[in-house]
Amino acid sequence: MTQRTLVLLKPDAVKRGLVGQILARFEAKGLTIVAMEHRTIDAGQADAHYAEHVERDFYPPLRDFVTSGPIVSLVLEGDEAIEVVRALNGATDGRKAAPGTIRGDFSLSNRENLVHGSDSPESAEREIALWFPGL
Ligand code: TYD
Ligand code: MG
Repeated sequence: MTQRTLVLLKPDAVKRGLVGQILARFEAKGLTIVAMEHRTIDAGQADAHYAEHVERDFYPPLRDFVTSGPIVSLVLEGDEAIEVVRALNGATDGRKAAPGTIRGDFSLSNRENLVHGSDSPESAEREIALWFPGL
């Protein structure tokens, strides 16, 4: 089933010059970029995006991180795009993510893990509306 999913290339991806390599993986897989933007978000946008995590102990440093510099946000479309992107991204903790995944190949952190992908159709709908209200 064709799906759309919200993907973020977080500030570490931009700062480390990994945007091109990461986008190339999504494109090589066959996913289509249907929207893309480069911007720095404020704390309000961070809180809205991570609404499910705002009360967690790890959230304050996560908020500082995701507001620390520009993010590349995009909407990807393709067959089973939500699950496919999560698989390409790899496990949350870069130290444990499998080699061959984006996090497994490029991240050694449980926080600075380069990428976000929506985790369900409901999350994708909410996150796409939040990041790309016109879409
Ligand atoms: P989560 O939704 O659990 O992971 P994922 O991005 O794989 O869906 O957590 C959201 C982000 O919060 C995660 O990408 C990195 C950060 N995070 C921490 O900084 N510390 C933690 O202990 C966890 C679980 C996540
Ligand atoms: Mg998540």
